[in-house]
Amino acid sequence: MDIRVIAGDVVTFAGDGLVVNLFERARVSAKGAPRSRTRGAPSLSGATAAVDAALGGAITTLIRAEEATGKWGEQTLIHSLGRLPAERVLVMGLGKPDDLTLDRVRVTAAESARALRKVGARRIGTVAHGAGAGGLDPAHAAQAVAEGTLLGLYRFTRYKANNDHAKMIERVTIVERDAKRLDAMKEAVRLGRILAEAATAARDLVNEPGNALTPTELARRAQAMARAARVRCEVLRPRELRRLGAGGLLGVARGSQEPPRLIVLTYRGRRGGPHLGLVGKGVTFDSGGISIKPAENMEAMKGDMAGAAAAVAAICAIARLGLPIRVTAVVPATENLPSGTALKPGDILRAMSGKTIEVVNTDAEGRLILADALAFARARQVTHIVDAATLTGACVVALGAINTGAFTNDQAWLETVLAAGKAAGERIWPMPMDAEYDDLIKSDIAEIKNTGGRKGGAITAAKFLQHFVEEIPWVHLDIAGTSDSDKEKGYQVKGATGVMARTFTLLAMEMLKQ
Ligand code: BES
Ligand code: MN
Ligand code: ZN
Repeated sequence: MDIRVIAGDVVTFAGDGLVVNLFERARVSAKGAPRSRTRGAPSLSGATAAVDAALGGAITTLIRAEEATGKWGEQTLIHSLGRLPAERVLVMGLGKPDDLTLDRVRVTAAESARALRKVGARRIGTVAHGAGAGGLDPAHAAQAVAEGTLLGLYRFTRYKANNDHAKMIERVTIVERDAKRLDAMKEAVRLGRILAEAATAARDLVNEPGNALTPTELARRAQAMARAARVRCEVLRPRELRRLGAGGLLGVARGSQEPPRLIVLTYRGRRGGPHLGLVGKGVTFDSGGISIKPAENMEAMKGDMAGAAAAVAAICAIARLGLPIRVTAVVPATENLPSGTALKPGDILRAMSGKTIEVVNTDAEGRLILADALAFARARQVTHIVDAATLTGACVVALGAINTGAFTNDQAWLETVLAAGKAAGERIWPMPMDAEYDDLIKSDIAEIKNTGGRKGGAITAAKFLQHFVEEIPWVHLDIAGTSDSDKEKGYQVKGATGVMARTFTLLAMEMLKQ
């Protein structure tokens, strides 16, 4: 889909649909001075006022009739009946001006684009919501429109007949009155596109079924993505993994016929300076292994590689942006299946770092493979680590589908990650890491065990990981609740969310600010 930014007047936009907006509790402004207490009388400004005038006051009429209120999420579709070159006008409620955020702009862009696609629109025009009366930076608003539109229109159609998806938006034109803003807005749209495409690339990987996206195929896809973004890609096979002593990854993979892979991507945007390590859990299907999961919802475990998808997509986006920073992404990829050769409860593994692990539950496999990936990232001399993993059901219980759980050994690094999450509109909530939680994963027979029971399950999982990062500033993000969505809402659609692909990319930008 093509996204362009042009200078001009929205009323001259010719296309299938034009999106403008309306704030809640707007009042008429008669030549500057607000006309007081005229109930239901609108204060339309900028593009909306111009469109209203061209439509002979149709929007004003809808507001007076209280059919359009500007409430957040409201959609009013008006046919222009030849009064405008645009076939129809969609008025999006932006809510109260004080509540306007860039994330609301993303949501507005997503929902308006979907609504117009539904009625068969192919070419649509829009304002950069919030850049006028909303007071947002016009470039940021344009970025959010681009991002929200691409994310909201995303569909995973690979396994559906083509005619199911005939309706398609081909072009979005952001119309800006002030030509001086154009260059900055165009550049921002480019950034918005790269961010959104990172997330949609991650979604594509996560939505793939386990039979298609095996560890081998995940490595192939990562390789192809890396090549396109000019990122270096190494794929380590079992022979090398044995040589490295990757007992965690090899241990989990033992139950499967599919060989594991350790996927390592490197991008050198600069020689010195910080070196960001992105680590992502890549379990392409998690049955639980011998500690097998119940059948209900087990199909969702094809998405147990969402962390891997985010890490791969983000390093490619960082390279596309040409950011002056070093980044290494490490993805341990395997299936977790039961078989005659599978890992068993009670087995003891030796991880790459040399630590021994008692496997109490084979369904706590993510931390076993991440132990090796974190040690590998350490060996590659990263200065900062962030990992994303669909690690625990306990995190889903704690935070639901709204917030990703964050765990750290370094407050300052956490702040940086939180800032990146905020810029992406991906909510992240810090969780405690008191030393006492460590007691729960002490083993009688090995150095550590892989589960600490049900109490504080998300935290003990993080504590387990901490043993393998040691002193490097590290943030662990448990995305078990946020990596997929059960409904279409805002710029999320049903299925994979691509969560953390954008946050990771913005994290590199955030590090460069410091
Ligand atoms: N992949 C799961 C966690 C998960 C659960 C992700 C729900 C997404 C939705 C992970 O490997 C797992 O099975 N964790 C166990 C750990 C337990 C055995 C200590 C869990 O959360 O039940
Ligand atoms: Mn599991
Ligand atoms: Zn898992």
